[in-house]
Amino acid sequence: MRVIIDELRTPIVLAPMAGGPSTPELTAAVSRAGGLGVLAAGYLTVAATAERLAATRALDPGPFGVNLFVPGAATPADRYAGYLAELARDFPLGEARFDPDDWSAKLERLTADPVPLVSFTFGCPSAAEIERLHAAGSEIWVTITSVAEARIARDAGADVLVAQGAEAGGHRGTFADRAEDDVADPLTTLALVQLLTAAVDLPIVAAGGIATGAGVAAALAAGAAAAQLGTAFLDCPEAGTARVHRDALALDIPTMLTRAFTGRRARGLRNRFLLEHPDAPVAYPEIHYATGPLRAAARASGSADAVNLWAGQAHTLTSREPAADLVRRLSAETKSALEKALSRRIQCY
Ligand SMILES: Cc1cc2nc3c(=O)[nH]c(=O)nc-3n(C[C@H](O)[C@H](O)[C@H](O)COP(=O)(O)O)c2cc1C
Repeated sequence: MRVIIDELRTPIVLAPMAGGPSTPELTAAVSRAGGLGVLAAGYLTVAATAERLAATRALDPGPFGVNLFVPGAATPADRYAGYLAELARDFPLGEARFDPDDWSAKLERLTADPVPLVSFTFGCPSAAEIERLHAAGSEIWVTITSVAEARIARDAGADVLVAQGAEAGGHRGTFADRAEDDVADPLTTLALVQLLTAAVDLPIVAAGGIATGAGVAAALAAGAAAAQLGTAFLDCPEAGTARVHRDALALDIPTMLTRAFTGRRARGLRNRFLLEHPDAPVAYPEIHYATGPLRAAARASGSADAVNLWAGQAHTLTSREPAADLVRRLSAETKSALEKALSRRIQCY
């Protein structure tokens, strides 16, 4: 079956980036430049999602996608009350609450007013939900972090797998975030793409730690049909990334996986808040809502110490350039990296 990435002028996908960076302008710029923009709808109400869809369409982008968070279940308050009491000594907190991120209303909206593709993270929609979106004409992408999750997504009817490796910035798309799984290292992008190629017969979009055309070329050579980049687009002028976040990207500081800000594992630049709370519990979105005011205050005051500076491992390669220029540069680099690789002597015995 042919999928949208088979028709692109270049195999570069803009990752959805909820919480500020994703904008209609960024999405449309990447799609118009021949890549594929995916608009984030996580954290948004259905009304805000509809507004952003309209704003994206008004920019005449060609094919683009929308990304939704698959909701999990509420966490009993006694599992995170101690952590929030500790934070409350130093920071203003919001209400720790659970909500399903307007899931049903967004699905209904996208069924009535379809987009070319809908991508999902934090879980896999049911076969019936995928069927409804298929019937409306949308292609379905599901983010996976293991071969077991890939098989679930395939069996539910996904058209494309977004293989998110450990290097990736932002939240891990793992279907179930469990503290007991932390003992195992998460699979890196290249390992995951190779394992998937051998195990599941679906097109793969590789994500995580890809910041150059050489990185895109490596993903393609490993078996991916396209590469999805997030951090590389964070400092584009069309992105809605906060100043403090943009400024931190160029700093040569390591990234770490943390639950301190949201109660769900995510990769961000190491800062004081993350270091001081290494044992934050699993409780998403409750902790996300509780820490909202402290993160907003830190962003407003330009203090990088208490902002969730989501970034992938290759963040120092992020450059400030218009998204279309970045897509064009990455495409040219990908081509020359592949040509350079082919020019090496590879003797077949
Ligand atoms: C700031 C930020 C926000 C993100 N938000 C989302 C999101 O809303 N939905 C999603 O599926 N992935 C999200 N991701 C993860 C990306 O889809 C992708 O896996 C990741 O950016 C790839 O790694 P890279 O950042 O090293 O390129 C986010 C990543 C970042 C950096």
